[in-house]
Amino acid sequence: MNAPNKNIALMTTGGDCSGLNYTIKSIVVRAKLKYATEVIGLHHGTRALVDAEHLSYTRFNLSKILHCQAISAGSMIGSQSSGNPFHFKNDEGEYEDVSDRVIENYKALDCKGLILIGGDGSFSIMSRLAEQGDIPLIAIPKTIDNDIGFTENAIGFNTGLTQAVNAIDALHTTAMSHKRIMLVELMGKGTGTLALQAGLAGDADIILLPEFMVDPDKLIQKIDAVMKRVSKYCIIVLAEGVKDVEGSTFLKAHQDGSKRYAGAGQYYADLIAQKTKYEVRLTSLGHVQRGGDATPSDRLLGATLGVHAVDALMRDQRGKMLGWYQQKVIETPIEKVLSFEKRVVQKEVLVKTAKALGKML
Ligand code: F6P
Repeated sequence: MNAPNKNIALMTTGGDCSGLNYTIKSIVVRAKLKYATEVIGLHHGTRALVDAEHLSYTRFNLSKILHCQAISAGSMIGSQSSGNPFHFKNDEGEYEDVSDRVIENYKALDCKGLILIGGDGSFSIMSRLAEQGDIPLIAIPKTIDNDIGFTENAIGFNTGLTQAVNAIDALHTTAMSHKRIMLVELMGKGTGTLALQAGLAGDADIILLPEFMVDPDKLIQKIDAVMKRVSKYCIIVLAEGVKDVEGSTFLKAHQDGSKRYAGAGQYYADLIAQKTKYEVRLTSLGHVQRGGDATPSDRLLGATLGVHAVDALMRDQRGKMLGWYQQKVIETPIEKVLSFEKRVVQKEVLVKTAKALGKML
């Protein structure tokens, strides 16, 4: 057993999702029961460490966390999407590099290493920080987008998928009653995995993905064909990252200057309304996809990766991301994970299934 009395630091970063809390619980329980080690949960990622006088963290208590069911969505230690320590917006609204401060404050916590539950954006920032501060870092993938390579699923994806499918199921009846075209815009950034799986599971008539260009003529022809069927309604599932017919992505700048996907659903709702005689309605599901109690699949993934993350740190592993692949936990260098873009491709089996069922253009 290595350095049993050193703490383990833990943070959740990026967009939250379901399954984080169960992962956190599994990390705390494993660290305490197997290694007699305390877990320090940093609040809102690196933000917890910016100000030495106001460090913000939880020292987890085993009996309390054992008592907690931990299946709800969100993160019990908070997350952050805009706390890059190399480009940190201070109280005066100016950007500064606070990385040295964050590292110094981390070191004061006397930790063996840091477990990061995050997405690819956080992996990139935190690997740089870990290198600069010589911090052993173990990463666990979480995102409803499921756009991280070297793992079949990221934590949160299955619950996001379930939320999306429930919403699509609910839209079928109202679409049928009113003989309408229902567009459902799902999250996923530049990746169509969530929309593909939700569209297929929700029995959408048409699925539009960021990876494949939309031919407007084919889209209208397809809609016309669907509307001529006995049921006379059409469900279209589209990913927020779908491009316009010229190939441009819909992005909107936020107050902090960062850009987020927005507008694809409205663009295609307007296009369809202009080019057909049918009534069109749009549902942008948005952050609902990040809520809901974690599905059994996300709980199993969180519990397993949590236990393995603690074990990996105790084996002196560093710079690795844990993934789930063919019923096994695999460890991949974070650099390698970041060099690969996980996207939907024509040859994958679910695309073939969707095509075979006439759901793609
Ligand atoms: O990456 C997860 C995700 O939910 C994306 O699907 C979405 O585009 C983005 O986060 C939204 O981020 P925010 O929380 O900043 O609105």
